[in-house]
Amino acid sequence: RFFYDTDADLSIIRNKKVAFIGYGNQGRAQALNLRDSGVPNIIVGNRDDEYKPQAIADDFKTVSITEAVKEGEAIFLLIPDEDQQEIWKEQIVDHLLPNATLVVASGYAVAFNLLELPASLDVVMVAPRMIGAGVRDRYVAKEPYPCFVSVEKDASGKSLETAVSIASALGATRGRGAVESSCREEAGIDLFAEQALWPAINSCFIEAYKVLKGAGFSDEAILFDMYMSKEPSEVFERASTVGFFKQLKYHSKTSQFGQLRGTKNNDGTALREKFEKVLHKDILSGEFAKYWSNSLAGGAKELEDLWKETESQPLQIAENTLGLHKE
Ligand code: NAI
Repeated sequence: RFFYDTDADLSIIRNKKVAFIGYGNQGRAQALNLRDSGVPNIIVGNRDDEYKPQAIADDFKTVSITEAVKEGEAIFLLIPDEDQQEIWKEQIVDHLLPNATLVVASGYAVAFNLLELPASLDVVMVAPRMIGAGVRDRYVAKEPYPCFVSVEKDASGKSLETAVSIASALGATRGRGAVESSCREEAGIDLFAEQALWPAINSCFIEAYKVLKGAGFSDEAILFDMYMSKEPSEVFERASTVGFFKQLKYHSKTSQFGQLRGTKNNDGTALREKFEKVLHKDILSGEFAKYWSNSLAGGAKELEDLWKETESQPLQIAENTLGLHKE
């Protein structure tokens, strides 16, 4: 199901006092879009950091997170997912107006029950599928962009109208419209890409490098052919415009034959079994969210260790040796 401009009643969000919690990547873009869509009452809640002066420079009344929450009828929670649980508990939940609407731009915290949600609270997701700069640029250019919309908790019975009104004010219901989804689906697909799809792709590159290097090929030739040429980004760019398989037609016949035959001969059973396990046992069960919350509470040392281990990947060492990406 899609939601279009014609489904939206903009007066719903225009008549609410809106509090942006966070003025980063998404926060700034969304606040500017709402203001340009005629939402008059916007307040920003931000801690004292480098983002705060930007909110002030953009002419938004800027206060602490708790102060903003106390006034907000629609609360846009736009701080990083990994900080939401703690900030919600310590600075938000006890100060919510009765009948407020929580608006999230990612499903993670809601899908995995990281936030205590008071009974009278409406909860909706309006999740642009692009970075903040894209959300702002497309709005200004009057171009559409992909966005997920969902109702997660409907205390008022009017959450869907609110969500569609917000999506429209953000410019997300133009063109093909905003897609109905859910926090579980959004977070599930996102985490699946992060924990199954991309690790598999990363492993392909890691092992490919080892095999080619083992055959005596040079680091320069291997890395430039594999990705420094930007060939993978061009392939994915075309996959999104002409189709996942149809982009193959831009390659030589030899390449088409090699790719289609090679793909056919790959038995995906083991990979699929692994993917199933990651999706169901780790992600949708909530195990990952619990594990990561604990790790974050302990200072995220495991992430640091993983980065250290990655330094000794042969592919990383080859990049360092060639001095490809000087910091
Ligand atoms: P960001 O990293 O740009 O957020 C920065 C903001 O969070 C600043 O206002 C900063 O003051 C505040 N902040 C950071 N840590 C904090 C803490 N510990 N306590 C209080 N405030 C803190 O975040 P971004 O990328 O805008 O993400 C916000 C939400 O939007 C997330 O739910 C994310 O999943 C979602 N989202 C992000 C997209 C992206 O492209 N970055 C795309 C679509 C959704």
